[in-house]
Amino acid sequence: MDRTERLNYLRKAADLSERDIDMITHPDAAFSFDNANQMIENTIGILSLPLGIATGFVINGGEYLIPMAIEEPSVIAAASKAAKIASHRGGFTATKVDGSLMIGQVQLVSIPPLLVESTKQKILLHKKELLRLANSNSRSVMARDLLVKEVEDKSQNMMGKMLIVEILVDTKDAMGANVINTMCEAISPRLEVLTGGNVIVRILSNYSTRRLVRSKAIFARAQLGGEAVVDRILYAYAFAYSDPYRAVTHNKGIMNGIDAVALATGQDFRAIEAAAHAYAARDGTYRSMTRWYKTKDGDLAGDLELPLAVGTVGGIVSVHPMTKLGIKILGVKTAHELAAVLAAVGLAQNLAAMKALVSEGIQAGHMKLHARNIAVLAGAKGNLVKLVAERIADEKNVNIRRAKEIIASMTEKRHHNNTYNDNK
Ligand code: MEV
Repeated sequence: MDRTERLNYLRKAADLSERDIDMITHPDAAFSFDNANQMIENTIGILSLPLGIATGFVINGGEYLIPMAIEEPSVIAAASKAAKIASHRGGFTATKVDGSLMIGQVQLVSIPPLLVESTKQKILLHKKELLRLANSNSRSVMARDLLVKEVEDKSQNMMGKMLIVEILVDTKDAMGANVINTMCEAISPRLEVLTGGNVIVRILSNYSTRRLVRSKAIFARAQLGGEAVVDRILYAYAFAYSDPYRAVTHNKGIMNGIDAVALATGQDFRAIEAAAHAYAARDGTYRSMTRWYKTKDGDLAGDLELPLAVGTVGGIVSVHPMTKLGIKILGVKTAHELAAVLAAVGLAQNLAAMKALVSEGIQAGHMKLHARNIAVLAGAKGNLVKLVAERIADEKNVNIRRAKEIIASMTEKRHHNNTYNDNK
């Protein structure tokens, strides 16, 4: 499809209005310098990124068109290809692992060692009052529980024992950072009075282990290219599970997909990244975020479990119209549904990368797309872009000089043919 066809398809599939389409085609009008200037400090402009759509995703029985904002070639094609393979076995399932609570932390210090235990009990005795205080400014997002843990300083400074008061907050469809930070600050003065200690840090934890999501899919052996490919993928997985140097790259591929959807839908991708990598090291060694194994039928099964603190309301979603549109295109109604999509895309991305790595290698696909960029840089226009890109990629001669030569010879030939036809 060309761009107009893509937009027409999207208009119908995602029920987009004329205004939505206008926003896609005139992003400067949708999000102006003034908007940007109100959002951050010392603003000088706006940085654009390509926005594309991954296709073929079936998640929990529903079909999704997935907006992805990313500068890297091959990522969207790879996700779509893996999604198509997964759809032969019903697509992806993705579910919450346990609840959807975020954690807010308040650090209390200067408690005399002998009083640590009794102070802990005192805080717990006032749990109801503290929760009421935390919830005093919020109607929808609620702190549900409060815990206290002891943490010993493990740094070289030996600052001793501290008490960490953690509130568990049900953020519903918001990511929740602002509300949780406000709650942490709201209970701090009372905690100091209650305990005689000093509060230092009051902030949410981005390690959102109470918002875990697990996606799963089966990739049919035949669609992957046979038993040998399945076995080679299991070797690739063994490498990523067992060697952190490989695990980082393997997981980077997973985050290619997750970050791209997160960006297109206005999520805090740094928070998602930080939590995902910490979770990948939860047993003390940094490992593959995905798990892969063979089913008894010889197909390849995979799952991806990770913490995903995302929101469909609040935050940047309420400020940046393009991110709201991203959520509309995706068609997700809840934060949980959005998290399910992110987990499915991550799994798809990983399968696609491993499949390419264990067969033709990653450069073949990359080179084809890179060749297109080179053809454009060399001055190719219209359908010449594809022809020139294919030639330089086939010749394994992907550089501007060669692209220019081919453009010159092709335009000369065309000119000759046109003159010939005109004369006839
Ligand atoms: C490139 O952006 C991502 C890969 O390196 C991931 C991987 O090695 O698994 C292809």
